[in-house]
Amino acid sequence: MNPGANEYVPSWFKGDVSDSKQTASSSSQQSSSSSDPPPKLSVSLPPPRKIVLTTTTPSSNTSQKPNQQQAQTAPPSQSSTQENAEKPDAVVSEIAKVSIDEQQASTNKTKDEKPSESAAASAANGSSSKIEQSAKSDAVDDELENEMEQGPGDSIANLLDQSDGRKTVNLVFIGHVDAGKSTISGHLLYLTGNVDERTMEKFEREAKAKNRESWKYAWALDLTDNERDKGKTEECGRASFTTESRRFVLLDAPGHKSFVPHMIGGASQADVGMLVISARKGEFETGFERGGQTREHAMLAKTSGVRQLVVIINKMDDPSIVNPDGSWSKERYDECVKKLWPFLASVGWKQGDVSWIPASGLTGMNLKHVPDKSICPWYEGESLIDTLDHLKPPERLVSAPVKLPIFEKYKEMGGLQLLGKLEAGRITLNDKLVLMPNKSEFVVDGIALEENDTSVAEPGDNVRLRVKGIEEEDVRPGFVACSPDNLVSVASVFDVRLMILEHKSIITAGYSAVMHIHAAVEECTIETLIGKIDKKTGKLEKTFPKFAKPGTTVVARIRMAQSICVEDFKSFPQLGRFMIRDEGRTIGVGVVLKVRE
Ligand code: GTP
Ligand code: MG
Repeated sequence: MNPGANEYVPSWFKGDVSDSKQTASSSSQQSSSSSDPPPKLSVSLPPPRKIVLTTTTPSSNTSQKPNQQQAQTAPPSQSSTQENAEKPDAVVSEIAKVSIDEQQASTNKTKDEKPSESAAASAANGSSSKIEQSAKSDAVDDELENEMEQGPGDSIANLLDQSDGRKTVNLVFIGHVDAGKSTISGHLLYLTGNVDERTMEKFEREAKAKNRESWKYAWALDLTDNERDKGKTEECGRASFTTESRRFVLLDAPGHKSFVPHMIGGASQADVGMLVISARKGEFETGFERGGQTREHAMLAKTSGVRQLVVIINKMDDPSIVNPDGSWSKERYDECVKKLWPFLASVGWKQGDVSWIPASGLTGMNLKHVPDKSICPWYEGESLIDTLDHLKPPERLVSAPVKLPIFEKYKEMGGLQLLGKLEAGRITLNDKLVLMPNKSEFVVDGIALEENDTSVAEPGDNVRLRVKGIEEEDVRPGFVACSPDNLVSVASVFDVRLMILEHKSIITAGYSAVMHIHAAVEECTIETLIGKIDKKTGKLEKTFPKFAKPGTTVVARIRMAQSICVEDFKSFPQLGRFMIRDEGRTIGVGVVLKVRE
């Protein structure tokens, strides 16, 4: 990889820059083969959620769907329409300066991050579930990423959260439609005792009555009639389970292209992506090679801040691919891994952060226990649950001020409930927090992790707060709860580095689309194309270009229709990375370089 392309952005983005052509072309291939363009995304619609309560007793295995508050009533604080007074030249030189500063941080980086053939082969031959980490290059990347994750004066500490000492990890299941995400999720809940035998039998009876018997495990997550009738997840299902050393929050994203915004919502709350791939004959090809959602999901998960990926090559039991003696086909598994890996690497996934597992969500094989040697003689890695148990725990910003982007709000028994992922800091009962951008103060009256009341929420937790002092109309998804003495910045104009992935034509100043940034979904306009990045040198090659083509990376000034909570990527990445979408397609991904006004 070209060292010059390392400016501005962390290591995960560098892969994109040098390989943007490849990524763009694969994305456009994807779009061109999509026969059924999804409907245009409503600008203000937040991704809805549902909550699955899963416990070991059938009586308490009820589902509760929070009121899905679509109304976006509270206007954020004054949206600035004032033109930026800075001279364009000053902007360019400032950006050039940032690039020089950051280049310094990456001068040590010389190693090409592209995975070697042998790495793919090592996953494929089943000798290990995890491709060996390229320690040297990752060390440099991690240093840079850590540096970017630590706010000024803040230290990253590993935490022992929850009283039982288990660390919480948020998983999001992603991948093409029908790959088996909900089936694996439901089966995991069953195998970990979170869906009991009687409930499973009930699902089986009901699924059979609808001629959908093979969806019985999926029914633990697909709760609505619509989802069950069609056999397709529409909203992110949610549940939790524990293993020996971890507590997992599981988010089951929809695979259908019409529901990508919901998938993005799920990915923004997750630490680990579970990319499910169907190995069934024809399905792998549709999901990956012929423009399915596999590529888009893998890329969006990366952009959303997911740090580790477990690739589950599913449906290994399927008659279309098993060997004549009934054992799992190593050839098919190898084929899937070898085709997937170059793409994953091209969107920035690193070897050490990706694990590979052959599995059958339907039979449960390799979910909890590795398959018998008669079924899979060539696999020597761990089962899915063991792999999850041994993942690196995500690093958390424990001592930082509170930052909690709100994904959802609803009223329950008269109390206002806010849901979000606590990105930094600890929240305890009776804490006074401020909701930005409106600066409304509120008091934390109750804290729940999944369905359990607790007195403290730790960074990384997907938390539900019961709050006092504000009304439902004061909150919108995308607002951020903060410590009163350290408020998040609010802006409607900021400079970004944007990689344009696919678009039917060139992009010029004035182009409008929808930005997804942490939990916020708002309309944005490219106000100025400040410069184009040279792919070879990574420098601004052309200032104020008239247009930008798909496949190029630009520095641009963006104006939002409304002010949003946003931070420079460098100071707080969770609030500084975004994707823009238009007419159901992901047009670009990027990071915020500088918040302006
Ligand atoms: P969406 O929610 O629509 O994106 O699909 P999904 O990825 O959640 O897939 P789902 O779990 O609903 O499964 C789709 C179909 O694949 C169902 O008929 C499942 O029974 C089947 N399926 C899932 N896993 C396996 C497996 O391991 N082997 C076989 N043979 N079929 C499977
Ligand atoms: Mg599903």
